[in-house]
Amino acid sequence: MIMIDGPAELGGELAIQGAKNSTLPLLAAALLCKGQTVLHNCPNLSDVDTAVRILEHLGCRCRREGHDLTVDSGMNDCEIPEELMRGMRSSIVFLGAMIARCGRARLCSPGGCELGPRPIDLHLSSLRRLGVEIDESGGWLTCQAPEGVQGAYVSLSFPSVGATENLILAAVCGKGTTIIANAAREPEICDLAEYLNRCGGRVYGAGESCVIIDGVKELFGSEHRVMPDRIATVTYMAAAAVTGGNITLRDVDNAHILPMLSPFEEAGCEVRQLGGSLNIMAPRPLGAVKHIRTMPYPGFPTDAQPPVMAMAAVGQGTSVFVENIFESRYRHAEGLQRMGAKIKVEGKVAVIEGVERLTGASVEAADLRGGAALVVAGLAAQGRTLVGGTEYICRGYENLAGGLADLGARIREV
Ligand code: UD1
Repeated sequence: MIMIDGPAELGGELAIQGAKNSTLPLLAAALLCKGQTVLHNCPNLSDVDTAVRILEHLGCRCRREGHDLTVDSGMNDCEIPEELMRGMRSSIVFLGAMIARCGRARLCSPGGCELGPRPIDLHLSSLRRLGVEIDESGGWLTCQAPEGVQGAYVSLSFPSVGATENLILAAVCGKGTTIIANAAREPEICDLAEYLNRCGGRVYGAGESCVIIDGVKELFGSEHRVMPDRIATVTYMAAAAVTGGNITLRDVDNAHILPMLSPFEEAGCEVRQLGGSLNIMAPRPLGAVKHIRTMPYPGFPTDAQPPVMAMAAVGQGTSVFVENIFESRYRHAEGLQRMGAKIKVEGKVAVIEGVERLTGASVEAADLRGGAALVVAGLAAQGRTLVGGTEYICRGYENLAGGLADLGARIREV
């Protein structure tokens, strides 16, 4: 559990971790590259540990020293066991890399997760367009590309992040050219493409809706610094906002934060972006965040919705949220309500009437970002808050409690 004695007022400086959502596809890319990959700024997270276990199972040797993770690529198995797949839904990103590396792959279907049903139909239909044969019987995906991965034109009906990454990983060593239309434009896709290109790949247009991949024969591992985690950044910004704090975050990519700035500005925060750091100064009282509509990048990210809802819970006035990406992404609302927040949820819409003060309570994280939202709310609440289910939080935040304690919060893991 995380125990918080609130309210806190945050101040000081903190360095932002490397991005979880970038590290996972980069580790899948490491499988594909011959020789050695060294990832710098690699966050210490349980999801990264799961990805490392998958790589080791498949035949890679992995070594971590602080925030450097070295992968010596090798492949002597093409199957991911069920318990590793179940541990992390995004393990599906290994599918494209496995097929590209050895022409076949077997893994169990990842199924749903705490955010609701998470279909992989786009991953599968687009891989089929690249000549991959996929059998979906018995809850397993048995995939093979007997003629190798064949370049093709693929148009995604929705710009899925995971499907775009899987396609890039499958096509980068394929035959001919692959064109992905309506590709996801998230910065993590650019980080993956940058790494692959450094290893000898030819991926063009990452960050745009149309990505073109000219297949190459082989890739050779190299070094790469994982991009900063934009969702961790916005979580600490929300923590500063709810506590009337003044904090500076270092190792930030300010361009990635732009789509998330408006609720902070609406709420009256002063945000200054300078080079690789960001300073946020929050007013007292905080204003409403007004209107949040989650969208694919460069829209407002669904992963930032829960911590910003904790802000809305104590912002003066009414805020309206519309969650357009995932079905079950308001599970943190219940915990916030236990702390005294006034939230009404109806389908994809949540209406929040800010209250003057939340009250500490025992609450349970139901998912990663929702758990972080409860911690943020606990910082603003009067009295003691206990947040259970911290195993979710450890999937994506490296020492969240420690980071907030460094900024002056009375918070610890118990
Ligand atoms: C990634 C992120 C996750 C983030 C999400 C949206 C990683 C490891 N995870 O997840 O943190 O919340 O992007 O920004 O990077 N969909 C389908 N069929 C598919 C694939 C997706 O219907 O085959 C739907 C999903 O159910 C969801 C939407 O598309 O409603 C977005 O999913 P997607 O962009 O694929 O998210 P992930 O890659 O799973």
